[in-house]
Amino acid sequence: MELKFGRYKLRAFLRGDEPSIAENINDRQIERYTLNIPYPYTLKDARHWVDFNRKLASGGNKIQLNLAITLNGEVIGGIGLFAMNGHRAELGYWLGVKYWGRGIVTGAVKALTRYAFKELNLRRIYAKVFPVNKASARVLEKAGYKYEGRLVKDAVKHGRAVDGFLYAKTR
Ligand SMILES: CC(C)(COP(=O)(O)OP(=O)(O)OC[C@H]1O[C@@H](n2cnc3c(N)ncnc32)[C@H](O)[C@@H]1OP(=O)(O)O)[C@@H](O)C(=O)NCCC(=O)NCCS
Repeated sequence: MELKFGRYKLRAFLRGDEPSIAENINDRQIERYTLNIPYPYTLKDARHWVDFNRKLASGGNKIQLNLAITLNGEVIGGIGLFAMNGHRAELGYWLGVKYWGRGIVTGAVKALTRYAFKELNLRRIYAKVFPVNKASARVLEKAGYKYEGRLVKDAVKHGRAVDGFLYAKTR
């Protein structure tokens, strides 16, 4: 499966992606706003991630779908649907800091949402954003997601309970 938007592509993670994944994801500015991305992020972490996704794909899993955001064959970010359960799934994403502010993730969210509604038969895609993460909330709004409310103490980050802003798009 491959989805194109502008000069960018969404596609499965492949062997050989490890250096560009590690280079672009290894940043405190990404760790800070996400729950499952460590900092520092090593080549070994990238290897595990690629292997994990290759196994998922070959096992025909329908629980999560993780895709690379690529530019000229390099992985510059990632986007995925997880906790897929019947008609609904949760959305998550990250982008290398040097690519921020060009509309890339908005394009990726629109493309994956369209695909998931059409091809995966989902009816509801939701995302949870830390209140401080204005850029991510804006991405969701630009992609047509609606704010549904504040999830009090939804996550634990650096040992502290933090709220989440819940956004969703339905069809
Ligand atoms: C959130 C993230 C994915 C955004 O990717 P991106 O490709 O830079 O996003 P876009 O360029 O499509 O859109 C960003 C929007 O946020 C706005 N924005 C950026 N920083 C902002 C801030 N501090 N306050 C308000 N708006 C802000 C931009 O102006 C833009 O909106 P506009 O088009 O109306 O001007 C990226 O910043 C990232 O990887 N962050 C770290 C990981 C993360 O937060 N993941 C999501 C967890 S829920």
